Amino acid sequence: MKPLNVGVIGCGNISDLYFEGGKRFDSIVITACADIVKTAARDKAKKHGIPNVLTPEKLLSSDEVDIVLDITVPKAHAAVALAAVKAGKHVYNEKPLTLTREEGRTLLETAAKRKLRVGCAPDTVLGAGVQTARKVIDDGWIGVPVSATAFMQCHGHEHWHPSPEFYYEAGGGPMFDMGPYYLTALVTLLGPAAGVTAVTRRAFSERLITSEPQKGKIIHVETPTHLSGIVDFSNGAVCTMVTSFDVWRSDLPCIEIHGTEGSLSVPDPNTFGGEVNLFRNGYDGWRTVPHSHAYAVQSRGLGLADMAAAIQTGRPHRASGELAYHVLDIMQAFLDSGETHTRVALESTCERPSPMPMGLWDGRVD
Ligand SMILES: NC(=O)c1ccc[n+]([C@@H]2O[C@H](COP(=O)([O-])OP(=O)(O)OC[C@H]3O[C@@H](n4cnc5c(N)ncnc54)[C@H](O)[C@@H]3O)[C@@H](O)[C@H]2O)c1
Repeated sequence: MKPLNVGVIGCGNISDLYFEGGKRFDSIVITACADIVKTAARDKAKKHGIPNVLTPEKLLSSDEVDIVLDITVPKAHAAVALAAVKAGKHVYNEKPLTLTREEGRTLLETAAKRKLRVGCAPDTVLGAGVQTARKVIDDGWIGVPVSATAFMQCHGHEHWHPSPEFYYEAGGGPMFDMGPYYLTALVTLLGPAAGVTAVTRRAFSERLITSEPQKGKIIHVETPTHLSGIVDFSNGAVCTMVTSFDVWRSDLPCIEIHGTEGSLSVPDPNTFGGEVNLFRNGYDGWRTVPHSHAYAVQSRGLGLADMAAAIQTGRPHRASGELAYHVLDIMQAFLDSGETHTRVALESTCERPSPMPMGLWDGRVD
């Protein structure tokens, strides 16, 4: 199978991992890159040996691009992805899919009319950690899932990210930044959600950048930075979830799923691997489950490679726009519930993506 050509728009911090992935996965090849800051695209092209440095407009009209990889900042995701689809390209976005439900719906509907694919990060859930955890649940080791906990607590990103402003703008915050990893993992493990009940707050109205090159600059915080809530899933499972940029230190586990027969400790959904631990009635303590699936190390681009292979064979792709839209709906519901102090019923649902095949060679997705 000939690899599909990928054009990258947005050559920032995360792009290196995708450029590396472009050489690793045999269903994709990165042929071009672009950025509104031309030097950013030029520097990445030089570093990674990308043949064409284009303007974003030229990249969208290039015959040598089948899929646009949109790894711009979150507030640009909707416009860049929609322009890509209107230009006749499949598109794969970094998370979140878009900032609003309306933008997300427009993107999916426009792509569907043109028979184009929309994919979206995170693809960490296709890695060994979450796929093994999913297999443990599907094989019945914890019985019927009853409840879950999901915790992502830290003190934000202004101490390390070179341009951390977007983390505190509308569409940023810990839910839109990290929620996609946790919620995509939870939907992979438990299926779609039905509703959200949440309380939100913002501990600091200003944040001080301590990372270079903007050290000393103040960021005005536009979005809640502590979101605490309950997600009720269609299968009846109830998840207590906290995402926060207002916590100095926490040792709470990332995700646990508790069932009628046992408990499952799921590794950090922001990584591909990690330890999967199982406890069943009668065990002395947690037992580590060996990985059943491949991709236990950094594999960004796996979801994009899966989409490229799926386009060629006509099967559904796993890191889909529908899944990302459902995750966006859940994240927005946290904000809505925080404002209205009521349970928000979700307007969307999605298919649980099919599990990854076992026994894959590195670089392969089928
Ligand atoms: N940095 C990380 O660790 C990380 C991890 C996972 C996911 N992400 C996601 O990846 C995306 C990019 O993050 P980043 O950290 O690389 O950000 P970044 O700010 O370092 O890079 C974004 C790049 O996009 C360019 N850009 C912005 N708007 C554009 C537009 N309209 N057209 C063309 N180029 C445009 C910017 O000039 C910049 O070079 C975000 O959606 C983020 O949520 C980042």
